[in-house]
Amino acid sequence: MRALWIFLLISMAPMAIRGHFEFNNVVCLVRDRMFMDFEYCYLKSVNRTYKYLSLKTKVFHLPVDNCETRFQLRMRENRRLLYNFDFKVDSCKFLRDRKHVVANWVYQTFAPYSNINHTCPYDHDIVLDKLPVQHLNKLVQSIIPDGRYMMNSTWMVAGIPRTDVILYFTKS
Ligand SMILES: *[C@@H]1O[C@H](CO)[C@@H](O)[C@H](O)[C@H]1NC(C)=O
Ligand SMILES: *[C@@H]1O[C@H](CO)[C@@H](O)[C@H](O)[C@H]1NC(C)=O
Ligand SMILES: *[C@@H]1O[C@H](CO)[C@@H](O)[C@H](O)[C@H]1NC(C)=O
Repeated sequence: MRALWIFLLISMAPMAIRGHFEFNNVVCLVRDRMFMDFEYCYLKSVNRTYKYLSLKTKVFHLPVDNCETRFQLRMRENRRLLYNFDFKVDSCKFLRDRKHVVANWVYQTFAPYSNINHTCPYDHDIVLDKLPVQHLNKLVQSIIPDGRYMMNSTWMVAGIPRTDVILYFTKS
């Protein structure tokens, strides 16, 4: 599985030059307002080329020492799941060992712009600070085909879903 994934990355890399990546929308859905909320969650277009995603959580029950993340990437037209991008990880374990190849790829996409860059527990809110569309463009280019996508991540603490962070984007 891992070997296949690496093979796919390498074999698709030459396609990485063209293409265009666009953020369409972000939805930060709070499932349990007693547990957490968002201070902000938005996309901003500064100009034609500079667009970014920012969010900040407001967690009322810190520290967080266990978390499970369900991650799915779907095509919007037919709701088809991208096979490699349908997984669930024990986030605290993942942060310790980084052993899940696809989760690690997703993590590395977001981590440089956030304060999630450490192991559990988290005794602070999570901030994603101005993740530029260009950064995702570079990474996503080689890996997924053109299309309109929905990236759905569901975050569970103590086994209870607390929030869905859903990012809509288009690759053309
Ligand atoms: C877009 O805005 C960024 C940040 O202000 C700036 O660095 C960049 O040159 C701008 N690009 C264009 C095409 O105006
Ligand atoms: C956090 O980021 C720094 C600098 O990018 C890196 O050296 C370090 O290994 C990261 N820590 C974790 C736990 O990923
Ligand atoms: C996101 O995933 C969760 C958990 O699988 C699911 O309950 C929810 O309906 C999904 N959201 C969307 C917009 O598909």
